[in-house]
Amino acid sequence: MKDPSEFHREAVEHLRREIPGEAVVAASGGIDSTVAAVLAQEALGPRAHALFVDTGLLRAGEAERVATFFKASGLGWELLPAAPRFLKVLEGVTDPEEKRRRIGTAFIRLFEEEASRRGTNVLIQGTIAPDWIESGGALRDTIKTHHNVGGIPADSKLRLVEPLRDLYKDEVRLLANELRVPEPERQPFPGPGLAVRVAGEVTEERLAVCRGANAVVESEIERAVSAGAIPRPWQYFAVLLPGRTVGVKGDNRVHGLAVSVRVVESVDAMSATALSLPPEVLRRIAERITRELAGQVTRVLYDVTDKPPATIEWE
Ligand code: XMP
Repeated sequence: MKDPSEFHREAVEHLRREIPGEAVVAASGGIDSTVAAVLAQEALGPRAHALFVDTGLLRAGEAERVATFFKASGLGWELLPAAPRFLKVLEGVTDPEEKRRRIGTAFIRLFEEEASRRGTNVLIQGTIAPDWIESGGALRDTIKTHHNVGGIPADSKLRLVEPLRDLYKDEVRLLANELRVPEPERQPFPGPGLAVRVAGEVTEERLAVCRGANAVVESEIERAVSAGAIPRPWQYFAVLLPGRTVGVKGDNRVHGLAVSVRVVESVDAMSATALSLPPEVLRRIAERITRELAGQVTRVLYDVTDKPPATIEWE
């Protein structure tokens, strides 16, 4: 990126030239889409409608955290409650790419409806370079379909505007600083949400287990960071694994669920290193997850794989 202030000025001019009327902005509460939304509102004023979708695939406390962050960023926004719609399209789907496609399509249909209600077809997204590079394009293999790229159906009438599409994460952070968008309190969180962290079928019950285990991982990692035991990781979360695993309860064998814990260091998400956690932190996480989700989770694993060869997310 050239100088952030020059990028800022040119991006605003470009948006004004490109968009004569209204536009909807997909605002996920992450840094990329918030920076895109702030640029859009600077360029278009109230003609840029920032919409935050409650997909039902959010983490515990997510909607509240996002509201606080938008307020601190000076963003005007609206909440779209859509959990039943997302659960419905995921019914019976276990293939990771198919899940991503369906979520992407559900987002697009929702934004089409919202755009059309406002008399426009312009959708502004905070897509950044790694999103489309990893989604594949002319000469590239598809590593993964990012929901904000791969899920756009061919018949969509939406016109996509992506002011950050050539930037990498560290450059978005510089631009955020230039725009006085504070660092969000949260770690990066994928657009398809907990759906890519519930391996296998996504149901309300399985989402609740993943959400509960994830809340434990977040609180224990944050506690270890505050105590100075570990540096703040890039991302730290729980994944609910498919299938059942044997456990014991009293004298009986029970078949419970397995959760994998992922804690990684990274600079730009293109590569990542699995953090070596102190054994007492790992033990506490396992103890709390199996106690707080007793009768559901019987086994907790730690993912020690770097990216590459793995990706950060499970699916
Ligand atoms: P992976 O799993 O590909 O993830 O190593 C790299 C970074 O991107 C996040 N991620 C996504 N972000 N839409 C997003 O906005 C997506 O579909 C998506 N998939 C992964 C992931 O959390 C990590 O920070």
